[in-house]
Amino acid sequence: MNNFPSVDQIPLPAPVWLLKALHDLTFSLHLASVGLLLGGLMLALAFAVFGKLRQAPVMTQAAGMLIHRLPTVMAFVINLGIPPLLFAQVLYGRALYTSSVLIGTYWIAVILLLMGSYYGLYVSAGLAARQKPWFGPGFAALLLILTIAFIYSNNMTLMVRPQSWSAMYLHSPAGLQLNSSDPTLMPRWLFFMAGSFPAAGAALMLLSLRSELSDELARFLSRAGGVVLAISIVIQALLAQMTMGAQPQNVAATVMGDSLYHPFVLGWLATALLLALLGVLAGIGKRPNALIAVVASVVAFVNVVSTTMVRDGVRDVTLRAAGFDVWDRQVAANWSVIGLFLVLLVTALVVIAWLVNVAGKAKRVEENYV
Ligand code: HEM
Repeated sequence: MNNFPSVDQIPLPAPVWLLKALHDLTFSLHLASVGLLLGGLMLALAFAVFGKLRQAPVMTQAAGMLIHRLPTVMAFVINLGIPPLLFAQVLYGRALYTSSVLIGTYWIAVILLLMGSYYGLYVSAGLAARQKPWFGPGFAALLLILTIAFIYSNNMTLMVRPQSWSAMYLHSPAGLQLNSSDPTLMPRWLFFMAGSFPAAGAALMLLSLRSELSDELARFLSRAGGVVLAISIVIQALLAQMTMGAQPQNVAATVMGDSLYHPFVLGWLATALLLALLGVLAGIGKRPNALIAVVASVVAFVNVVSTTMVRDGVRDVTLRAAGFDVWDRQVAANWSVIGLFLVLLVTALVVIAWLVNVAGKAKRVEENYV
């Protein structure tokens, strides 16, 4: 029996390939921002604790620099989460709306959790700026952010499990349940959590290039970034193996053998290897190296894009086996609207690049968190 609600009679307003490409681009940007946020927060908390325990001002300063930037990063996480949500709803609405309703209470709770964590970040940044301890609100924000990610992983794994929907609805029509019986859930969530460190490690390496930093602080940021990058990408590779191994029969093999997704599996492995190497180089380097930092950041983003694509493959292959083929939709492309959308998208990206450039050239404000 096909468990999916019947298809919307209104055709898609753009070709499936275009909607998927836009989804994958914007989701990669969301995922990279999530990495900066989560990885940045976990590292900031670790530096704050060890800075105090070891009486190491350089660590306390690094922690303050990180937490100071996280409210801004959170704005990127949220704003870059909205476009993939819209594209995913257009493409996979019959599956995604169903799973969202089944875990509805938790799904709606994301909004409150988000507000709470955002508040925690602001409070922490304010305390750090006044050289006061900020571990409490920072740790609370971390717990809330981890919970949000867990709810997202629940929804994204449940949307590809139509065989369990009816029983779940009968169990709790109020949506007070999670997809906890799914063996793919935990490894997948852990994979994404570990995946936040490579982006954060590369960001530390970039931060170390700032000219106003003392030599000791610059060296600490660059080396710590390298070590985090090298270790976390190895852990993430192990979790990737576990996540693919937990997929239902044939899903992993079909994704690996698919001509669209296979290159991204190889791309993920190649970028992971490169990141481990660049991490080791930065970790043992005597001073920050701009080339290594920039190349590591670009490679880390390509790695995130590869994750997005393989994740997309896992979803499409699993759904197809359950009777939902995302490519099998009626399309009535409205090219004038698509053209206008693309012009606005490019304009927005150019404006963001310009803003980042202006912010980069702005006069530095002295940061002192010790
Ligand atoms: C602190 C806040 C957030 C965190 C930590 C977070 C983290 C994540 C993670 C880990 C995933 C991947 C889940 C998986 O596939 O197993 C994900 C997916 C997603 N997130 Fe976020 N997220 C956050 C906020 C948001 C917000 C505010 C939005 C939208 C308004 C959003 C939109 C999405 C979408 C649309 C997906 C899935 C896209 C797809 O499957 O097509 N996220 N998020």
